[in-house]
Amino acid sequence: MTLRRRALLCIFTIALSMQHAHAQTPDLVTRGAYLARAADCAGCHTAAPVPGQAQPHPFAGGLPMGSPFGTIWSSNITPDAQHGIGRYSYEDFARALREGVAPGGKHLYPAMPYPSFSKIDDNDMRALYAYFMHGVEPVAQAAPDTRLPFPFDQRWALALWNFAFAPTKPFAPDPKRDVQWNRGAYLVQSLGHCGACHTPRGPAYDELGYTESSRAYLTGGTNDHWHAPNLTGISGAGLGSLSADDIAAFLKTGHGAGLVTFGSMVQVVEDSTQYLDDRDLRAIASYLKTLPASGSGGTYDAHSRMASQSVAALRTGDDERPGAGLYQSACARCHKSNGGGEPFKYPRLAGNPAVLSEKPDSLVRMVLQGGRAPSTERGPEPKKMPAFADKLTDTEIARVLTFVRSAWGNDAAPVTTRDVRSMRDAVAAGTRQ
Ligand code: HEC
Ligand code: HEC
Ligand code: HEC
Repeated sequence: MTLRRRALLCIFTIALSMQHAHAQTPDLVTRGAYLARAADCAGCHTAAPVPGQAQPHPFAGGLPMGSPFGTIWSSNITPDAQHGIGRYSYEDFARALREGVAPGGKHLYPAMPYPSFSKIDDNDMRALYAYFMHGVEPVAQAAPDTRLPFPFDQRWALALWNFAFAPTKPFAPDPKRDVQWNRGAYLVQSLGHCGACHTPRGPAYDELGYTESSRAYLTGGTNDHWHAPNLTGISGAGLGSLSADDIAAFLKTGHGAGLVTFGSMVQVVEDSTQYLDDRDLRAIASYLKTLPASGSGGTYDAHSRMASQSVAALRTGDDERPGAGLYQSACARCHKSNGGGEPFKYPRLAGNPAVLSEKPDSLVRMVLQGGRAPSTERGPEPKKMPAFADKLTDTEIARVLTFVRSAWGNDAAPVTTRDVRSMRDAVAAGTRQ
């Protein structure tokens, strides 16, 4: 190692240990509560509210999670001794989070993001444990049992899966990068488990990469019929056109650069990222901005000939493309004829990375089911997108989305009637669960 490298490493270690000193402030429980938000433990471990019934207890489990193998129910992780994790030692807790093995040798399904949590450092793990033991109300309530069909009910087999796929290495800071970059990388890869949704999975449900050293890392993934887009620097369908400030604002309020969070990201913003402090949000955003462009998807060119043509054609009503008329009558009221939307109300569809995604799943699901923007402490009043499942046929939805993906300078692959039909079936099956 050269002297310069060693000096850099040394400065870096001091900076990191200063950060750790900060983590060990007397109020370990408060710190743990913050980290539990960063990891969104509540998002998965709290049942969904049922209208007319009492609010579900935080962390008492019982949220059904769709997986390709069947429904997995989240556990009660309150400190109740019988139904929760009250009897866990610190070692039990750290092993469940990092290795996916609960006391008694019970292997957890990777619906619990332990492959990411394996990167949580010891200081943060201790703060999380302190919070779950001393800051969370115990709730004496059993979470439903997960019963997957054979062979997926054989939990022991997960040991083989872990051996083949789950990373066990702790987070390794990159001494060539500064403290902010390393903080962002740590939050994204460990607590934030962003890759659980944003990284594509292999046939065995394994994430294809857990750090930026893999080309597939954060290049877009589909879970529970929501497609989480590419977060690398590709220009159309990725974060190439967004600034670090836009990304930080998006994570804080669900709004940034004219975009509005939707789908499964709404919960992430509501339960988790809106509570991160500005320093951590900045760190995440600047880490994401350093990810080299990887993966594919549609493109956007605001100055293309097609861009000006489609706006003009829409106004005069002589656009021959199927879908243009539907757009004008069903969508333009909110998203506007020029696809520009209305800031803090309706997302722009022109140059919107999610609209240009390689996979149109989220767009189809959105038009079928509608959605609601996130409700956050600092963001605007949430607006709704209506559901079109009963108003438009599969062919009409395919046409209007194909138009949206090719108008105003957008250029992404068409959506087919078959895409819409299979999403309609999948979503209907999901609500019958
Ligand atoms: C993406 C969803 C998700 C997130 C986020 C998540 N969990 Fe889990 N967790 C699950 C699911 C699902 C299970 C049950 C898995 C099973 O039955 O195999 C589980 C199981 C557990 C268990 C094992 C309990 C037992 O004995 O059965 C513990 C402990 C746990 N989670 C703690 C946490 C903590 C602490 C956090 C936040 C740092 C967290 N989880 C975040 C989904 C999640
Ligand atoms: C539960 C799944 C899930 C998790 C976990 C998740 N995301 Fe997302 N994310 C999505 C989905 C689905 C979208 C597409 C909807 C949208 O744009 O809001 C999205 C969109 C985004 C976007 C906007 C991208 C675009 O092209 O418009 C950003 C930025 C983002 N996520 C960052 C993150 C970060 C950072 C994390 C980790 C702290 C994270 N996400 C964790 C599902 C998830
Ligand atoms: C009443 C206003 C309204 C109408 C009409 C409407 N939308 Fe939306 N749309 C919204 C709102 C609000 C959101 C953000 C919802 C959310 O965050 O969950 C949204 C989100 C979207 C998104 C996700 C993009 C993003 O970044 O959030 C797509 C795609 C979309 N709409 C397409 C359409 C199409 C196609 C039509 C016509 C068939 C349409 N919308 C009609 C209000 C509307």
